[in-house]
Amino acid sequence: AEPLKVALLGAGVVGSQVARILIAESATLAARIGRPLELVGIGVRRLDVERPGVDPALFTTDSAALVARGDLDLVIEVIGGIEPARSLLLSAMEHGASVVTANKALLGSDMAALSHCANANGVDLYYEAAVAGAIPIVRPLRESLVGDEIRAVMGIVNGTTNYILDKMTTAGLSFDVALNQAQELGFAEADPTADVEGHDAAAKAAILAGLAFHTEVRREEVFCEGISRVTETDIAAADQMGFVVKLLAIARLTDEPDARVIVKVHPTMVPKTHPLASVSGAYNAIFVESRDAGQLMFMGQGAGGAPTASAVMGDVVTVARNRLRGASNDMQTGYTTRGVAPIGDA
Ligand code: HSE
Repeated sequence: AEPLKVALLGAGVVGSQVARILIAESATLAARIGRPLELVGIGVRRLDVERPGVDPALFTTDSAALVARGDLDLVIEVIGGIEPARSLLLSAMEHGASVVTANKALLGSDMAALSHCANANGVDLYYEAAVAGAIPIVRPLRESLVGDEIRAVMGIVNGTTNYILDKMTTAGLSFDVALNQAQELGFAEADPTADVEGHDAAAKAAILAGLAFHTEVRREEVFCEGISRVTETDIAAADQMGFVVKLLAIARLTDEPDARVIVKVHPTMVPKTHPLASVSGAYNAIFVESRDAGQLMFMGQGAGGAPTASAVMGDVVTVARNRLRGASNDMQTGYTTRGVAPIGDA
């Protein structure tokens, strides 16, 4: 049978892992999908970089031409950032390809445009890797819990800040030393301000809130305070009172009849008895409360090449299977515009 044609955009920490798995695990993937995948091109910014294990002929700096070939089944985007990722993904979908992306910044700011484009073109848009790396949380909110009513989502969705707060608490490290370690471990964003000031968590909070409450939430609507003002004294005082300080993304509904979404990111005193208190190092966790399921906790590695690639590959297999069935996941059914409450209402 004809292979499904796949293009990869980005060959950094996550992209190189995705390329490795596509090549090394091709037989397993073909068995799981029922059809082989053919990696036809990898869009990169520069060609003068060593990328062992991948045929150099696959690399191109012309990603715009790659996604517009017209014969692609699937485009995997792991470049990050708004542009050029946004234009490339819209073009890919307009040219008939389904999309798998890990791009939290883009989805956090422009989910509506991307999902409209996917629906209009009858293709899939999957993004499990955009929130909390390896942890399955997008699909549980979008599919497993869709027959329930979510009441609240509370999560540790940034590994860098959790690592910093944890090392300040348990190892007595200073903020700067802990941040340096997180950077060396490869969790931090290129500009760690996005981690430290909560912007990365706020983009993920917007995605989670939109999924949980079936509505549009944009990053700009998320109240956001990072951890740069958390001191060793704050942490010690919290400890004395039986709390740990965690940077939480919190989404819930207001009590009013036409409930609006409250969505915020800020350092939070978490009781040591709460499951989120025990999430250490660069781990992420999301605590969900719903009407019928009650309390759920999802925990795992929220950053790093291989864990994030795991989530990307799960989406790749699912999207490939959908494609072979001639189906795509309609993302707009039941979608409302609820509105986000100003933080004063929280
Ligand atoms: N910088 C992010 C983090 C990477 O520390 O969690 C994963 O999105």
